[in-house]
Amino acid sequence: MSDPVAGKRVLLGVSASIAAFKAVALASELVKTSAIVDVIMTPNATRFVAPLSFEAIVHRPVLTDLFDPQARSIAHVSLGTEADAYVIAPATADCIAGLALGLAHDALLATALSTRAPLFVAPAMETLMLEHPATQANLATLRSRGATVVEPESGRLASGRVGRGRMAEPAELIEALRIALGREGDLAGRRVIVTAGGTQEPIDPVRLISNRSSGKMGYAIANAARDRGASVTLITAPTSIPIPRGVDVRTVTTALDMQRAIHASLAGADVLIMAAAVSDYRVASPVDHKIKRDGEDLILRLIPNPDVIAGVKSETLVKVGFAAETDDLLINARRKLEAKGLDLIVANDVSAPGSGFGSDTNQVTFLDQAGSEVLPLMSKREVADRLLDRILSVLQQRDAGSADPSGPASP
Ligand code: PMT
Repeated sequence: MSDPVAGKRVLLGVSASIAAFKAVALASELVKTSAIVDVIMTPNATRFVAPLSFEAIVHRPVLTDLFDPQARSIAHVSLGTEADAYVIAPATADCIAGLALGLAHDALLATALSTRAPLFVAPAMETLMLEHPATQANLATLRSRGATVVEPESGRLASGRVGRGRMAEPAELIEALRIALGREGDLAGRRVIVTAGGTQEPIDPVRLISNRSSGKMGYAIANAARDRGASVTLITAPTSIPIPRGVDVRTVTTALDMQRAIHASLAGADVLIMAAAVSDYRVASPVDHKIKRDGEDLILRLIPNPDVIAGVKSETLVKVGFAAETDDLLINARRKLEAKGLDLIVANDVSAPGSGFGSDTNQVTFLDQAGSEVLPLMSKREVADRLLDRILSVLQQRDAGSADPSGPASP
């Protein structure tokens, strides 16, 4: 998986909040993504969590004292210049004020002045402190200097009150890091449209026809493309997956809605990937009141929906479809590749264990005009990255063709 955080040097600054325990979980998640993590704590932060808790996870010394004779010489400068990202989590109101003013009285703040790495700030404090104009002005100052403020959540606070001020979850902070560190990835400058989920066709105001798509495959592709620097539009049927950060999301319901949303997004797009399971039929005349049970048979007339991807005509767009099949996988997938005018199709045996609808893994075969590539069972995120590798090489071939004056001549 091409994770932009893997192998990167991430500095984690921890200030004095009860949310410091969440920073331990964040350090652990960062290490799991193969980041190299250095931790700097303010002296008061060590009253909430011991430096040893971090050292046991990151396997590196924790800097707590600006004047520590044991620390590397001028550690706040060397750590700052080596860092690829500086994440301050939790950031108290006092810490945020110090960052905004450019104070340097502790190692956390001094390092913020000496680094030029992108800064991420995760506020954690009582709602009244967060909403105070001074804190809001300080956060606005940090944003205006390019810092990413990962907004706190609402919930129960240390005081027992309920309100905004709980530090964002580690997963959200890592997502923010991925977006920033992936910006220069191999899909930078490309616009990718991804569809996800199962469209829903209404029968009446309470009933509908849909399918088993969870949206996991499409969301994995959207996240992977974003993490590689693409500008991503995700056109999604209703799912229970949280909306990803850093992606332009359009939620649709029916196949016709999805068709409209795709056509409205096409200008300037380089790639269309349709992982959505689109209803082939819709109810001819949905009714506007709940159909009552009367003991008689109920006959619904279904009429065909348009073939959405087949209807997208473009010489330059790379068109990728998925084929969800339960039998004759490759024969059916190749037929769809031709009939829908696709550059690539992902053949998906949805009856195989651990593959297809709802699972976190998938087993697929890529088919194009040149042949096929069978992939083993892997996570949907890995399938997404392998698919994007294939798409990137198609884009690069097109770039080379359009740059070559002896390339394909127009008729
Ligand atoms: O969402 P998950 O739970 O993670 O499951 C993933 C998945 C199984 C839904 C996904 O991997 C997948 O196979 N998606 C395609 C499902 C599908 O509709 O397959 P199809 O063979 O019916 O359609 C072929 C292609 O045409 C698809 O790209 C589809 O989006 C597109 N299509 C289909 C019908 C239609 N009216 N218009 C279309 O554009």
